[in-house]
Amino acid sequence: MSISILGIFVADLCFFGDEIPVPGKTVLGKKYIIGPGGKGSNQAIAASRAGGDVSFITKLGQDNYADMALKLYQEAGVNTQAVVLDSNLNTGAAGILINQQTGENAINVVPGAAATIDRKFIDDNLSIINNSNIFLAQLETSIDATMYALKLAKKNGCTTILNPAPATNLPDDCFENVDFFTPNETEAGFFINQSIESEKDCQSAAKVFLDKGIRNILITLGEKGCFFKNNEEEFLIPAKKLSVPVVDTTGAGDAFNGAFSVALSKNKNYKEAIEFASLSSRNFGYS
Ligand code: RIB
Repeated sequence: MSISILGIFVADLCFFGDEIPVPGKTVLGKKYIIGPGGKGSNQAIAASRAGGDVSFITKLGQDNYADMALKLYQEAGVNTQAVVLDSNLNTGAAGILINQQTGENAINVVPGAAATIDRKFIDDNLSIINNSNIFLAQLETSIDATMYALKLAKKNGCTTILNPAPATNLPDDCFENVDFFTPNETEAGFFINQSIESEKDCQSAAKVFLDKGIRNILITLGEKGCFFKNNEEEFLIPAKKLSVPVVDTTGAGDAFNGAFSVALSKNKNYKEAIEFASLSSRNFGYS
């Protein structure tokens, strides 16, 4: 089964230090790197590396950052038929501050060319969605275009995954188009206006989402694992312990979502799919 992913690519400008500065404070960092980013792009690369048949739908400028993206897609085997280059626009960038003691980050992402993705762009690239079995989106593309694409994907019979990151208000009528909703605990808390601290909080949040019409809820909980609930079952899959310290969690959720879509495309059941997604950062893949 094939997977189409709508989203953005940006260049991540990552600054590592012993703390993430509070507003008004300057810290001396340890190192910086410039690398690929953007949730959708990260997910597409992760999914392709994990063995998925993946097409990415986005818009880039025609610049060095776009070259970085295209080289990666070629190496990872991502189909770029719907990666559109616009020489009048710049590819976006994200400023990422990382606490290397804890791996936590703070991100400011500027989507650049991908900010112009609209309904017409979705219509122009609809064949990619229509030819796929699974559709995955996040919330870094415009809400209007993303909800439009989600609706068309559902109408086309795709299994749909919405990774609601960054969390933002969504129209009520979009939820019936979502088969899998994959917030992390912070994002889940945003939608129910309450912080998620325990498994009981996950159960209550998931119930709210199910009542909105979403069919399956996965709340990713970092080192605590992933909570799953639908109308038939619910379970918590603990995260496997790492043997090395965590230095950067940037993109962990993207690796999870990309790998989850691959496992679904290989007809894995929910539990197997979540376990596979959790392990995805360890260069795992179905052959
Ligand atoms: O999820 C991590 C990503 O969020 C980063 O790569 C950054 O670009 C932002 O889009």
